[in-house]
Amino acid sequence: MTPLHDIDACVFDAYGTLFDFNSAASAARDELGEDWQRLSELWRLKQLQYTWLRGLAEHHADFWQVTGDALDFALATLNIERPGLRARLMNLYLQLSTYPEVPAMLQELKQRGIKLAILSNGNPPMLAAVVSNSGLEGVFDAVLSVEEVGVYKPHPLVYGLAAQRLAITPSRICFLSSNGWDAYSAKAFGFRVIWCNRFGQAPERIPATPDGEIDNLGALPALLEQA
Ligand code: LAC
Repeated sequence: MTPLHDIDACVFDAYGTLFDFNSAASAARDELGEDWQRLSELWRLKQLQYTWLRGLAEHHADFWQVTGDALDFALATLNIERPGLRARLMNLYLQLSTYPEVPAMLQELKQRGIKLAILSNGNPPMLAAVVSNSGLEGVFDAVLSVEEVGVYKPHPLVYGLAAQRLAITPSRICFLSSNGWDAYSAKAFGFRVIWCNRFGQAPERIPATPDGEIDNLGALPALLEQA
């Protein structure tokens, strides 16, 4: 892709983009055994479905509840019942690993004077915990949660929150997400968007197409033209 110019801020999705949601179930492999990947996949899938279902039904509950509900569904589906395991996995969700390229990439952008933010479904305590546990405290100019607008992605109110809080026009914001549906929806809102397609997913069939696609965030700094 050709580099993007006139970008004042990079806004990152959290789960799957900066933080590896599979690292929670993976860290409990001693208890989950071979089921850890199936559990992780189902947990994530159901978690996202619940955000969309709650949005459509206008039954918002925060991401901690939705994440716990999705975990309960996944554990029940796989017939996994072990005392303390649910609490352990939920606690691990507050300590997710960053993808390896993330810290250096953020530092490079920060040194270039690009504003950095997170815009996530996560509730404020979840985001504060995962940022702090990964040593990224002080790196972001804003850590924004959908809780401020009371509805999940991809509602345009969520994307609007980032533009409003950063006081930067959407066309000067580069939004990054590994979730195709999030990347496409952010583009439809009006951001410039690079889809970090970590999981090699097929293109989405929903309105708008991201400006570009990379397979990890290490490629990002080179795609932002220096002023
Ligand atoms: C988030 C989910 C969509 O962080 O990954 O908002």
